[in-house]
Amino acid sequence: MTFQNELIKWYQINKRDLPWRHTQDAYTIWLSEVILQQTRVEQGLPYFNKFLAHFPTVSDFASATETVVLKLWQGLGYYSRGRNMHATAKFVVEHHRGIFPNVHDELIKLKGIGEYTAAAISSFSAGEPRAVVDGNVFRVLARYFGVETPINSTAGKKEFFSLANDLLDKNDPALYNQAIMEFGAMQCKPKSPNCGICPLQMGCHAFNNNLVGHLPVKIKK
Ligand code: ADE
Ligand code: SF4
Repeated sequence: MTFQNELIKWYQINKRDLPWRHTQDAYTIWLSEVILQQTRVEQGLPYFNKFLAHFPTVSDFASATETVVLKLWQGLGYYSRGRNMHATAKFVVEHHRGIFPNVHDELIKLKGIGEYTAAAISSFSAGEPRAVVDGNVFRVLARYFGVETPINSTAGKKEFFSLANDLLDKNDPALYNQAIMEFGAMQCKPKSPNCGICPLQMGCHAFNNNLVGHLPVKIKK
């Protein structure tokens, strides 16, 4: 079985039931992805529910005052995320007629949305074939394929993005993207991943060469 098929099979058995996985609404997915940028799922989940309850649509978000937005954000840290979200909500109302974009090339122009978030929203909401590359993905790819290039070097970024896009399941990019991120978060964890029960163990370069603790490589800057 291929790497992709093993991952997806693992995901279908082991995935957490998370609310943003039941929607294709770009606005809702944007809320979840920005909240989860520097925040763990357990911590971000109540904030996601709170924001969606207060602002069911991007227009509701745009109409709020910054004071209210930052009050709701309280406790999440990195307040620039909250401010950027507010600016983006207003921009979407003004320049996209209140319809949150779901196309990568429009998303990437919005404040607070970088490559990762644009790929996540466009693949989850529109099925655009864009590979998500976050810390989880770097780790899984580095270990499984034995890539020793530092993940935070220019060469490394190029190599990992290229590998990630080659591997992307073009038939269902959303499913594959969710699967690899969830696999990194739950199974191929940063510290003491449970390789003993890993379905990808047989083909895993790091496991077979005793490099799990060594990968991914990061250079000190
Ligand atoms: N972290 C960032 N995006 C996520 C998602 N869609 N599901 C779970 N964790 C995430
Ligand atoms: Fe990750 Fe270990 Fe599985 Fe390799 S065997 S993919 S290092 S959990």
